[in-house]
Amino acid sequence: MKDQHLVTLDVNGREYEVVLESRRTLADVLRQDLGLTGTHLGCEHGICGACTVLLDGEPVRSCLVFGVQADGRSVRTVEGLADGDELSDLQQAFSRCHGLQCGFCTPGFLMLAEAYLDTEPAGDPEEVRDVVSANLCRCTGYQGIVEAVTEVAAARRKQRDG
Ligand code: FES
Ligand code: FES
Repeated sequence: MKDQHLVTLDVNGREYEVVLESRRTLADVLRQDLGLTGTHLGCEHGICGACTVLLDGEPVRSCLVFGVQADGRSVRTVEGLADGDELSDLQQAFSRCHGLQCGFCTPGFLMLAEAYLDTEPAGDPEEVRDVVSANLCRCTGYQGIVEAVTEVAAARRKQRDG
């Protein structure tokens, strides 16, 4: 009997049906089957966080999740952040604060930070530093990333509080 499963995924608000072998990771499904190559693969064993996406709103290492585990669930990737040509507030802040250099780690950091920002945090820089320490960046020294996330937390808080 063939190891094939029909899986339904909601990715960035769009529904996809894919037939998968159970061994295939969510990262490979996003990149190879759906063409969403914004999700990057670095270590492929759960260390670097470059492959971070949101699964039902929670950040996960998509190299450690099987595609079949995402059946019927909602996935948000870096492609879901911008509104057409308009970058999201967080993407703009990364650019403004020099939160990226080579950019390889950036999609993972953006999704990790987006999940954190969704919790409506106060955005204390020490807390932000702790959150982003989950992922690896070889280029930036993290300062720009911390500044970007802190700025957006403050801006969103201001917007919420009027
Ligand atoms: S590629 Fe998934 S954690 Fe590094
Ligand atoms: S910007 Fe190069 S690894 Fe982070």
